[in-house]
Amino acid sequence: MTGAAWRQELVAAALAAREEAYAPYSGIRVGAALLTREGRLFTGANVENASYGLTICAERVAAVKAVTAGCRDFVAIAVAWNREGFCYPCGACRQVLYEFGPQMRVLVVEASGDYREEALVALLPHAFEK
Ligand code: THU
Repeated sequence: MTGAAWRQELVAAALAAREEAYAPYSGIRVGAALLTREGRLFTGANVENASYGLTICAERVAAVKAVTAGCRDFVAIAVAWNREGFCYPCGACRQVLYEFGPQMRVLVVEASGDYREEALVALLPHAFEK
């Protein structure tokens, strides 16, 4: 994936990944598509639970799939949902993404496919670092 094409590819993959969501409680279907330094793409979707608090966000599903496949250098992530407006990652996901990609780009996507590009550091200033 080179040039600007990767952005459109990530956005399309995030929109498609919403189909994998398990969201019977909120009805909010989130899809994420993560690009790693190797050029690999990992998708994720939110997985809810009857206990609510054990719900896992789409971004963290994509992140753990990448890390456990040996890809620990994140370049960008696109996040989409089935609601109006741009889908911004929650605070917990921002911190998890930061671990593997402090310089990464975050594409926040509307259901229409329009998106904005942000820097993760702008979304998570003063991230926790050891
Ligand atoms: N959700 C995500 O998948 N990512 C986020 O960054 C925030 C929230 C999911 C979790 C839950 O299934 C639903 O959205 C409503 O909170």
